[in-house]
Amino acid sequence: MNPMLNIAIRAAHRAGDFIERSLELCDTLDVTSKSHNDFVSDVDRHAEREIIDTLKKAYPEHAILAEESGLQEGNEYQWIIDPLDGTTNFLHGFPQFAVSIALMHKERLEVAVIYDPMRRETFTASRGGGAKLNDRKLRVTKRRSLEGALLGTGFPYSDFSYLDSYMKTLEALIPKTAGIRRPGSAALDLAYVAAGRIDGFWEFNLQPWDIAAGTLIIQEAGGIVTDFAGGENYLKSGNIIAGSPKVFHGILSTIKPLLPENLQR
Ligand code: 2AM
Ligand code: CA
Repeated sequence: MNPMLNIAIRAAHRAGDFIERSLELCDTLDVTSKSHNDFVSDVDRHAEREIIDTLKKAYPEHAILAEESGLQEGNEYQWIIDPLDGTTNFLHGFPQFAVSIALMHKERLEVAVIYDPMRRETFTASRGGGAKLNDRKLRVTKRRSLEGALLGTGFPYSDFSYLDSYMKTLEALIPKTAGIRRPGSAALDLAYVAAGRIDGFWEFNLQPWDIAAGTLIIQEAGGIVTDFAGGENYLKSGNIIAGSPKVFHGILSTIKPLLPENLQR
């Protein structure tokens, strides 16, 4: 196995084990939301520390971009880390969250891992080496159109200036598909596209650590990922469409005409 993927998996499992133990503790905390929020921030930070320590021990020169601690300069390799994607779910004990780690080299994603500690599912990919769930090879679905497709999405959460545009896309897609799910962890949603559990996904305004790992896992499973113009700017714009090829095209052609120009990126 790619040694860098191996290290990434080790880091993700360490963080995931910690998150799993913390969930039990979280349930026993007193119920004020402030103490819960503080506890979850501590879990986020500690999980991120475990990941960075593991990666840095193997690759001290590599750069890091992580949700909690931001950017640490380094050489041309950069790890992109979300220690706990689906924080709101975790806070509520809703068992849908994951650790997400990707490695970028000169603008290209090299390895990726998304780990779901609740189901002990490890989604991985290395560039040119395919995608896996635990030991099983992954392929996106063969669905031929939006008809019958199950899609994932996420709602706007902090910048509600996207809400109007988002609702138009949701309204247009609902009647064309078999159903839409909003599970609350973009990283896991993307892993599910790769695993063929959903046929496609779209969301506005995400962060690079929400989507970097999922992007490579989908591409290596035969799927397509773009921004809202059908281009490759999604890590920067945060606007993402993903899916098996035909479903991806169905989502893109449905929502693109509905979006103002500033969102077509
Ligand atoms: P997070 O849990 O790491 O914050 C859900 O739509 C996606 O949006 C998740 O991947 C989630 O990642 C991200 N997100 C970022 N900020 C959020 C917030 N304040 N509330 C809910 N989801 C948020
Ligand atoms: Ca996230």
